[in-house]
Amino acid sequence: MNKEQENETTLAAPDDARYRTLVESVFDYAIFMLDAEGRVASWNAGARRLKGYEAEEVLGQHVSLFYPPEALAEEQPLKALQAAARDGRFEAEGWRVRKDGARFWASVVIDAIHDAKGRLVGYAKVTRDLTERRRVEDALRFSEERFRLLMDSVKDCAIYMLDAQGRVVSWNAGARRLHGYAPEEIVGQNFSRFYTEEDKAAGLPQLGLETAAREGRFEKEGLRVRKDGSRFSANAVIEPIRDATGALIGFAKVVRDVSERREADRRLEKAREALLQSQKLEAVGRLTGGVAHDFNNLLTVVLGSLEMLERKLPEDPSLKRLLARAVEGARRGASLTQRMLAFARQNELAPKAVDLVALLRGATDLMRRSLGDTIKLRIDLPATLPRVVLDAHPFELALLNLLSNARDAMPQGGTVRIETRAERVGELAGALPAGHYVCLTVADNGAGMDADTLRRAKEPFFTTKAIGKGSGLGLSMVHGLVEQSNGAFVLKSELGKGTTAELWLPVAPDAIDVAPPAPAEREADPGLSVLAVDDDPLVLMSTVAMLEEMGHRVLQATRGAEALEMLRRVRAIDLLVTDVMMPEMTGVELARRASEARPALPILLVTGYADLPQGGQKLPRLSKPFSLAQLELAVKDAVSHAARPG
Ligand SMILES: Nc1ncnc2c1ncn2[C@@H]1O[C@H](COP(=O)(O)OP(=O)(O)OP(=O)(O)O)[C@@H](O)[C@H]1O
Ligand SMILES: [Mg+2]
Repeated sequence: MNKEQENETTLAAPDDARYRTLVESVFDYAIFMLDAEGRVASWNAGARRLKGYEAEEVLGQHVSLFYPPEALAEEQPLKALQAAARDGRFEAEGWRVRKDGARFWASVVIDAIHDAKGRLVGYAKVTRDLTERRRVEDALRFSEERFRLLMDSVKDCAIYMLDAQGRVVSWNAGARRLHGYAPEEIVGQNFSRFYTEEDKAAGLPQLGLETAAREGRFEKEGLRVRKDGSRFSANAVIEPIRDATGALIGFAKVVRDVSERREADRRLEKAREALLQSQKLEAVGRLTGGVAHDFNNLLTVVLGSLEMLERKLPEDPSLKRLLARAVEGARRGASLTQRMLAFARQNELAPKAVDLVALLRGATDLMRRSLGDTIKLRIDLPATLPRVVLDAHPFELALLNLLSNARDAMPQGGTVRIETRAERVGELAGALPAGHYVCLTVADNGAGMDADTLRRAKEPFFTTKAIGKGSGLGLSMVHGLVEQSNGAFVLKSELGKGTTAELWLPVAPDAIDVAPPAPAEREADPGLSVLAVDDDPLVLMSTVAMLEEMGHRVLQATRGAEALEMLRRVRAIDLLVTDVMMPEMTGVELARRASEARPALPILLVTGYADLPQGGQKLPRLSKPFSLAQLELAVKDAVSHAARPG
């Protein structure tokens, strides 16, 4: 050490004029000498610039002049000189004060100067202003601190850094939450461990890094694995980090858990599917309704003609048998079209307030018989139940449809339970508007349905039964009837666990509680003169034939305008029988205009549709197909209806 110092001493020998000029002209460093007591002995241009003092102001002053008070309190100047004297050299950074009082951050080097005999003669002091560097460092530290705080406050995202090889170098709180690792467990590990085995095998982790390095960014959704082995759907973004020369030094990775969004997407998809399904049912319903309507007309003709044939046929048992078979076939066809119309919600309903408990009690025998001996029927009914709005007849049919399905699902026998309960449905119940309902359930413990069958069960013509065994219209009919009654039909089933059908029926408001119309009192005049109107010539022919069979005289028209014309010309018309669904002028419109011209004229509407155009509800109606007996009754009803005042 001493040798060095000697060297320096010789180097710093003050007599060399050129050397002095050099030192004095250095502008960026304060270079000055202190005597052995610490008083300023020389002063250069840099010292003047840094400290603000002129040479004459400062020569002979003690070095403590440049220290701030807190440093003086710690006796820093003295300690620094002592250290330099002891060790030969002292280095430090610290605040110093300018002449104008401003502070600057200084890097200080103090060298002790010894003479040839090794005696301390003074010190050489070199001071550099590091304020700017310090400011930059502070700013950097501050921003790094803020960045770290920011990263750690992000709890929903994993944000972490990888080195160029894909090893984790930093780990934020979100990463910990998402992946389950503490920083000390994961830093230094390769990030491929967050991938599933399949993805690893496919080389996805490496591919992500390579793509990011090549393209500047890589984004992908996929499954990731937590520490505990569970998986989540992640959205990951990888971006390369490069140094100033452009060399790749690592990657920044941001991972978000998108499972929740996935779940929301899935629910949306399900809702969309349900909507599609209901639209499909709607479309099929309309189609079925159209076909059934035409069939209904045809069957009206067939049944009517067969009935009249029966009356006119000679008493020949073999002929009668043939005829009976034809009638039976046509009846079955008619009942099928009824179910189709029920599904299409196009058959006529006569809803009334119905006591479901009484209805079920009354139908118990029938239900038992339809189930057979191997199946038990348990009916659990409350003492009272609010009345519901229903057309009892098709409702009984619907019930029998459900029971026949239950029976088919339990070939080895089983139990069917029928229960009812009153319930208030809130605004959020989905299929139903808020209100009071009675829920009737029919539950079996039979074969049940798989998800696909359950989804399609209500579709018309959907059946899993052998050809000739099922028409696939049973549940369609139930669905249509319940919907038309402003209720809801819910089917629940699981393979092997049985099936539960829920019929939600709206409770009757008191106003709906109307008594059935009184049966016709007066006999219809056997010799009426009737105007029959139907746009379908075949149906018209059949209706006319029936009316004539009943002993009436019949005029015919195929259009509304034609019928009005006849009414104007022929005074002696006692009854108008008109189809409702006709092009140009509907039967309802015809009825309205006819009763304008002849207010007392009895009118009978014949229809296969529930949705009568406005104003048609008050007139007597007959739905197709009808038998001669039904037509006869309806004619009587229409005549007595017209005779009633109001
Ligand atoms: N209780 C039930 N248990 C198991 N599967 C059922 C049940 N009810 C209905 N299904 C399934 O739903 C399908 C459709 O039933 P739906 O009543 O509409 O027609 P179907 O019984 O096949 O024929 P049909 O027109 O004679 O009633 C059935 O074929 C059957 O697969
Ligand atoms: Mg069925």
